[in-house]
Amino acid sequence: MLETLEKIRATAIKEIAAATDTESLELLRVEYLGRKGQLTQLLRQLGTLSAEERPLAGKLSNEVKNAIQRELTTRIAALSAGDQRKVEFDYTLPGRRVGTTRRHPVNQTIDELVEIFTDIGFTVAEGPLIEDEYHNFDALNTPADHPARDEKDTLYLRDYPLLLRTETSTVQIRTMEHTKPPIRIIAPGRCYRNDTADARHYPVFHQIEGLWVDEGISFAHLKGVLLEFARGLLGKETNIRLRPHFFPFTEPSAEMEATCPACNGAGCRVCSNVGWLELGGAGMVDPQVLDDMNIDSEKYTGFAFGFGPERLTMVRHGITDIRNFYNNDLRFLRQFQ
Ligand code: DAH
Repeated sequence: MLETLEKIRATAIKEIAAATDTESLELLRVEYLGRKGQLTQLLRQLGTLSAEERPLAGKLSNEVKNAIQRELTTRIAALSAGDQRKVEFDYTLPGRRVGTTRRHPVNQTIDELVEIFTDIGFTVAEGPLIEDEYHNFDALNTPADHPARDEKDTLYLRDYPLLLRTETSTVQIRTMEHTKPPIRIIAPGRCYRNDTADARHYPVFHQIEGLWVDEGISFAHLKGVLLEFARGLLGKETNIRLRPHFFPFTEPSAEMEATCPACNGAGCRVCSNVGWLELGGAGMVDPQVLDDMNIDSEKYTGFAFGFGPERLTMVRHGITDIRNFYNNDLRFLRQFQ
């Protein structure tokens, strides 16, 4: 009987190893371990054995049964892993659905701004995100003791005087360094400030800069371009107003406000009941800045402006917290088509 058991073990294991699908494995299980299977049949004869032989045969039959069971389990696992591999290479299956994506709402605003300004004849310019103090401050007429240079506001890199640009006005300088008038550029891009994130601040944000330098450019041109931009972005009914302000690199400088698109200037929650929304800064390029760039300020004049696309996007969509743009919550981002 011991011999028969060993024979059953050997053939069963050989047959299981040769099986190529789970159905034949099931047949093998029935063949050996089933109620009428070979092993079960054999065990029925245990009682006919002698008292010495019986415990040995009992022990071995258990071993054989376990061995066959183990072999079946391993083989089934191996075959189903193989099945999965097969699925991966089944080129007839339809493709997996990839979630649809949309352009980030801030980028949508930037795209529209670029369109509005290129229609007026501006071209897009770019500058580096890592700047130096000269381009970020000195050339923009911002004196060495200006508080904006403080490390509390500006993110300096370890290699002084390198820093992360705090405004896109640097691109004005970069452009005037290598281009002579007429100059008509806009420069959208990322800026960095050492701000703690709250509803209105985020350490990374965008600005879009504008610069137009030519003979005979006046404040009236500035106002015309700003009105065109405000109406293009916020609607034809929009009006603007310019209020005196200070920026180191423009003289005179102004803050631009537009009538609130939510209430058309009547006053509502979006504009805190004033009817006007502050959108950005602007002004006539300071003659000193032009002269430093070897552009003759007797001959040429220019204007510049700078806006925050995050702010513009918030105004357009009634968003009250800038952090929404950077939390990467798809439920928020997918709302904007
Ligand atoms: N860069 C300025 C800021 O971050 C915004 C600005 C104001 C840009 C006036 C200009 C400008 O070009 O003329 O506050």
